[in-house]
Amino acid sequence: MTSILILSGPNLNLLGTRQPEVYGHATLADIEAMCAAKAKELSLALAFEQSNSEGALVDHIHAARGTHDGLILNAGAYTHTSIALMDAISSTEIPTIELHLSNIHAREPFRQQSYIAKVAVGQICGFGPAGYPLALEALATHLGHAA
Ligand code: DQA
Repeated sequence: MTSILILSGPNLNLLGTRQPEVYGHATLADIEAMCAAKAKELSLALAFEQSNSEGALVDHIHAARGTHDGLILNAGAYTHTSIALMDAISSTEIPTIELHLSNIHAREPFRQQSYIAKVAVGQICGFGPAGYPLALEALATHLGHAA
């Protein structure tokens, strides 16, 4: 069975109360439930992890090699700074979709730079929580998964 890891970075554990005008009212648990329903529909195995620490995120990406077939990564602010996360993706060669709730290209200039985009299959941003099931569909298609 095709297995996908959805990995969330710093401050995403605060979704629901964090700047709802930017990120909406859904909690990370709400998003996980949406993803579980979509994964079931697509017959995908799913794991869902979050960490506020850059090193722990690198460890999750390393552990995904041989365990999961693809990665959906919302690296939060590390998107814009982390060569370590970029290198973890290229070192493990895990097919990765970069995801953001907000449209990072329409925000502050420092958010328009992404180290993840350089090694990702593609990017989904600006659709709020709805981006997550979209990313699952896109990654399943990219991996040649037949539901
Ligand atoms: C974010 C966008 C980032 O710029 C920000 O630092 C986040 C959330 C998003 O999902 O829109 O933490 O990744």
